[in-house]
Amino acid sequence: TMATQGTVQGGPDRKVLRVLAGEAISPPPAWMMRQAGRYLPEYRATRAEAGSFLDLCYSPDFAVEVTLQPIRRFGFEASILFSDILVIPHALGQDVRFVEGEGPRLDPLEGRAEFERLRQAGDPAIFAHLEPVFETVRRLRAELPPDTTLLGFCGAPWTVASYMIGGRGTPDLAPARALAEADTSLVDELIDRLVTVQTEYLVRQLRAGADAVQIFESHAGTLPPALPAGTALVEPVGDVSDSALPEETEQDALSRWSFAPIARIIAGIRAAVPDAKIIVFCRGAGLEGHARVVPETGADAVGVDWSIDLKALRDRVPATTVTQGNVHPDTLIEGGAALDAAVDAVLDATRGLPHIFNLGHGITPQTPVAHVEQMLARLRRGSPSS
Ligand code: CP3
Repeated sequence: TMATQGTVQGGPDRKVLRVLAGEAISPPPAWMMRQAGRYLPEYRATRAEAGSFLDLCYSPDFAVEVTLQPIRRFGFEASILFSDILVIPHALGQDVRFVEGEGPRLDPLEGRAEFERLRQAGDPAIFAHLEPVFETVRRLRAELPPDTTLLGFCGAPWTVASYMIGGRGTPDLAPARALAEADTSLVDELIDRLVTVQTEYLVRQLRAGADAVQIFESHAGTLPPALPAGTALVEPVGDVSDSALPEETEQDALSRWSFAPIARIIAGIRAAVPDAKIIVFCRGAGLEGHARVVPETGADAVGVDWSIDLKALRDRVPATTVTQGNVHPDTLIEGGAALDAAVDAVLDATRGLPHIFNLGHGITPQTPVAHVEQMLARLRRGSPSS
């Protein structure tokens, strides 16, 4: 399939796919989380033309345009579909709005009554609602440079559930954690539904032309308490091979709420698309948590948040582990010598190892475009191509 043709002679050379297959490339291929966003004047112009943020997400013409903008400007080696993790609650029938300057607002799922009103997994209305996203992926694969890796994505179940329950991005996710304690089986059912829907969502993105997918666990640092030791919690995760969890084990909160549901999504994707390449970005999981992502979820790569000592993580995991990211978005705002030093630190920590260059979280609106140029010039200096 296309996804494995990265090195076929005369075929496209998708360097991000090559790294995801385990190859170390120098300098590492690069992209940025939130690379299509408000720091770009051309994004702000298209956003104003499109109307609301969700109109932008569901309009293939506009969504393709903003996805391509950072590729034209910076020649990133990967392009990420423009959409949002919250189109899934929206497709399930929850009201989702993006309030200017305040972020997402959902009608909070406070108990079983709201849960019962959501669409069941398998309701054809869910993927009918998401059809513009697949159309955007198809058009992107046709319009992108052949060497550019196209990434699809979704949010991890815990992160998406936390927005669905809290109705917004609460700093400590208190509503979601409280509901998980008060009505654990309800939150389990919600996570189960998200696992099923997001598995199909990512399979459909891959079939529409995405080369690889990233799962965003942005709230791995704020989880409900673990259940008592010895409690059997998780359905078998399928063929996650020898990296799978033991069938019954003491699992901490990270496994129970984050890694196990992600592992079920990944096993489900691989059952349908055996050679799918999958990145898991796990923010707030700490050094040990980051080291556990690949073995516990079956992912091909771990996306590293900015708080982690990348050198220490690389020393902690096998040399074959694929890592991605880690430049602090604030250092990108700062620019200058601090930014050059941050780029050099990533290169030093990952020399000879499979790594994809990225930030440790999304680029923020106040970032000067010139600093992105500086970062890429530093990364690519002395390299003959690009
Ligand atoms: O990375 C990309 O360029 C692809 C598009 C993308 C967006 N959101 C566009 C967006 C992706 C991959 C996301 C993921 C996403 N969305 C996450 C996980 C990654 C992370 O940042 O932790 C989360 C938690 C969300 C939910 C979300 N969407 C929030 C909290 C916000 C508001 C915060 C903000 O930056 O305004 C959004 C809105 C959003 N999603 C914007 C963009 C470009 C800004 C909205 C605008 O243009 O008005």
